Amino acid sequence: MPRIIRAQTAAHSKAETPVATVNTPIKTVHQTNRRHSEGTHILIRNNRFSRNETAMHAVPSPFDEMPFLWGSAIAAYQCEGAWNEGGKGLSEWDYFNAIDWMNVNGVDARVASDFYHRFEEDLDLIAEGGQNALRLSLSWSRILPGGTGRANEEGLSFYDRVIDGCLERNIEPNVVLLHYDLPYPIALKGGWGNTSIADAFGDYARICFERFGDRVRLWSTLDEPQFYSYNANIAGVYPPCRKADVHSYLQWQYNEMLASAKAVAIYHEMNLPGAIGVVHNDSLIEVATGTNNPAEVYTAADFFNNRMILCPALEGRLPPELDEMLEKLGTFLYRVPDEAEAFAAGKGDYLNLNVYARRYVTDWNNSPTSAKVDSVGGGATMEGQAVAPLYETLVDPSVPHNQWGREILPRIMHDSLMDIKERYGNPIVLTENGHGSLETPDDSGYVEDDDRIEIIGAFLKSLSEARNEGSNVRGYYIWSAMDLYSWVNGYKKRYGLVRVDFDHDLIRIPKKSWAWYRDFISRDAARRADA
Ligand code: FCB
Repeated sequence: MPRIIRAQTAAHSKAETPVATVNTPIKTVHQTNRRHSEGTHILIRNNRFSRNETAMHAVPSPFDEMPFLWGSAIAAYQCEGAWNEGGKGLSEWDYFNAIDWMNVNGVDARVASDFYHRFEEDLDLIAEGGQNALRLSLSWSRILPGGTGRANEEGLSFYDRVIDGCLERNIEPNVVLLHYDLPYPIALKGGWGNTSIADAFGDYARICFERFGDRVRLWSTLDEPQFYSYNANIAGVYPPCRKADVHSYLQWQYNEMLASAKAVAIYHEMNLPGAIGVVHNDSLIEVATGTNNPAEVYTAADFFNNRMILCPALEGRLPPELDEMLEKLGTFLYRVPDEAEAFAAGKGDYLNLNVYARRYVTDWNNSPTSAKVDSVGGGATMEGQAVAPLYETLVDPSVPHNQWGREILPRIMHDSLMDIKERYGNPIVLTENGHGSLETPDDSGYVEDDDRIEIIGAFLKSLSEARNEGSNVRGYYIWSAMDLYSWVNGYKKRYGLVRVDFDHDLIRIPKKSWAWYRDFISRDAARRADA
């Protein structure tokens, strides 16, 4: 394959590690992976690409003034409903769900949990549940119905009421600008495949910062840009439903992080009293014992799942191994000429991390690039992927899986937090963790979700171990505050601390886990006050 020829950028010339450019042979890349075996996997710390320490944002960290944040999370499209009310424009998901073959569960989020009309009740339940934080997202289509152009005052004032409602109840709002629900007019122009989306996203971000930046101290640009792109371009279960399209998968992430960088730079220029970052998910890579080339497998899986997000977000640069990996994958990216400056200006202040599962990987075994996901439930399919010619995931029979074939392995909470601390630094807010389950209430609508309590309890124990070992984690949020629309998984897969009865006027009934979490939070506060 011919080597990709492009000019060496300023960011790359600053990096300590040689990168694969025209005259730099790949072989010179320095390799210092540590390796030792632990049970079913080999521990690898990848020191090959050293940390790029650029100056942190000058404004003092808002975390200094905050207690530990114990909260829960929601996202606009998943809970708001009111899809065509209050001047809202069409989002890509409104369109996607109207197309039968893509919408495998046959449901949509036109009403969802009706948070748009019932948010006061939901905020009351969050506060009464002892939580002092809520992570929520804004709907770009509610604020800018056409994706660009004139802002919709009704949409902005809805979020004023939600944010003020949080503050009145001592709930710290942690706001994500976009959680998957791209405005349809932007999708029509190629969406995340079109590099110019960065400008549109920057304009939208500025409107949000100007309006809410006086009250919101914790911001995220995008929710899970990697997982979003994976589902849209590799698994083919989110719009636009492409399968095994590695070029689009990476191009989206490049454009997402360019857009994120633009928003971060705007936020910093405005000198607002808060912090901004990106939400990333499931960063822990573990290489199976018996893997022939563990260091290569680790580096490849880390690149494919993490580094296109974490390097821009935490180091203000693209991954130094990008060209080498593009060549191995036999693909390329369209890149903007000023990318080094753009990414350098977009380094975030902290990381929002969602932890559900790890990536358990081994050598590539000749399978074509593919993804296994289960959008219907029932446990027949185990989650996994093959990325030709780099690596494949394995099913670890010693680990239990949920009804959608995802691992349940609570110790990864500690391991994920410590891994990010060692490799990139701090701080971190753990913005999602939870347990999806099919649930049956009793006659009064009450759900005794003992499985959720047991699993989240184990994740929290693991979180506590990381805190005791010096992880600078500043908050923890359960997904989700109440039951809501679970994307292609529909409504049967429930995560909420509060049941929403979708068949009976959307009434809210706190589950057993809601009270358990409330008591856990107060016990933790008492324990740490005593310490
Ligand atoms: C995460 C998404 C969130 C929710 C949970 C279960 O990947 O951010 O919207 O669906 O999974």
